[in-house]
Amino acid sequence: MFPLMRRAAVVIAAGVLLSGAALHGGAQASQTSVEESPSAQLATLREAASTSGKFIGTAIADHRLSDATYNGIAAREFSSVTAENAMKWDAIQPQRGTFNWAAPDRLMQFAQANSQQVYGHTLVWHSQMPGWLQNGNFSGTEMNQIMNTHISTVMGRYRGQINRWDVVNEAFNEDGSLRNSKWYQVLGRDYIANAFRAARAADPNAKLFINDYNTDGINAKSNGMYNLVRDLRAQGVPIDGVGFQSHLILDQLPSDYQANLQRFADLGVEVVVTELDIRMRTPSDAAKLQRQSQQFAQVVQACLNVSRCSGVTVWGFSDRDSWVPGTFPGEGAALPYDDNYQPKPAYNGILTAFGGSPGGGDPGPGPGADCTAAYQVANRWNAGSVVEVRVTARQALNGWTATFALPAGESVTSSWNTQLTQSGTTVTARNVAHNATVPAGGTFSFGFQTNSGAVYSAPVVSLNGTACTAGTA
Ligand code: XIL
Repeated sequence: MFPLMRRAAVVIAAGVLLSGAALHGGAQASQTSVEESPSAQLATLREAASTSGKFIGTAIADHRLSDATYNGIAAREFSSVTAENAMKWDAIQPQRGTFNWAAPDRLMQFAQANSQQVYGHTLVWHSQMPGWLQNGNFSGTEMNQIMNTHISTVMGRYRGQINRWDVVNEAFNEDGSLRNSKWYQVLGRDYIANAFRAARAADPNAKLFINDYNTDGINAKSNGMYNLVRDLRAQGVPIDGVGFQSHLILDQLPSDYQANLQRFADLGVEVVVTELDIRMRTPSDAAKLQRQSQQFAQVVQACLNVSRCSGVTVWGFSDRDSWVPGTFPGEGAALPYDDNYQPKPAYNGILTAFGGSPGGGDPGPGPGADCTAAYQVANRWNAGSVVEVRVTARQALNGWTATFALPAGESVTSSWNTQLTQSGTTVTARNVAHNATVPAGGTFSFGFQTNSGAVYSAPVVSLNGTACTAGTA
């Protein structure tokens, strides 16, 4: 890592913290002191990824955006977002000529508020087609017109705001031939070139991608994709990139994963890991989660090693929201956060591969196993209280996560010296840059205000997942 790059990353980190403070209200901004130094840790995925100029993205489930914990992690950790479903054909144009913009607009606003790129997904696909399109009896001319209208309307609405679009999704069979989708049946193989031409016309600034699964190693399917992309480029069809979904299975990461990305990159196109998850038979165990962490890191490393790889998107970040258990019975635990939005070893695997500092989100054993925590209500009135938490750690910390429960109905309204999220009664307080590093025997503190002046006994505070003994200030 070059010192200059570190310094640049620190500036970005400070910006993220400041905008986080602004989002949570002015009171916090005045109480938070952001003292950045060049030694500040790269404590989030997006900070770490940015030092290599790569994005780290996540799929966003529209219905989860209203959850504070979900929203907070998505905003803090990721620099790119993809609509998990909200920009698909059945969601956007459920009836012919009727367009639903509420959910995709929400994603665009979320991305804008959090300085994130948007990866558009997806325009022409055999799946998640609305009934009128799937079952309609259209001539080639009409089908072409339907396709072009959808592309120009959807891309046109977000023209200039979406960096990359999956124009065509999952066009291939496993043997490398073209899938016999409705598009192929009615329009023949030209539907692909035509879709890309329509997309270029709709938003000349967007990079246009073709995306697929099981194309992650060198195999018959990825050979089919490779030949198509090579031919389209030779014909001057405007295609800029290839997405590798990378819905992977634990211990089955193709050994030629990086070589495969590289051969596409050598065609002159950008490559993106678009839908990464690594599923396993459930239940998970520590050994499987450890191997999963290494395999997430290997995927990230492959992207780092291929200069035309611009980023990695995970298909959701929490196992709670993953599509895997519903699609592959008996499998799950495929993402970097667990069902309770706690980071798993895979989180650290991704963070470390990007050059970040492990510990910022790792609840596992290690530093912080021994601690005392003083939970003090510093001020209380009829409709609020101010709480200060001071934690002394026996061992040195490189980033910390403190968790505790509040009584039902008690809500945090602002906080300082921490990035704090609340899910139900559970509060998760993470370090900010200036208090990430704590020497052995050292103390860190943070505070928050709640909406209730109720009297209750001090909760048990856990540090990095391990309960602290109750201490005094
Ligand atoms: C999945 C979503 O995650 C699910 O919520 C939905 O029910 C089905 O689609 N390839 C893709 C994604 O390109 O759009 C798919 O997403 C997963 C496979």
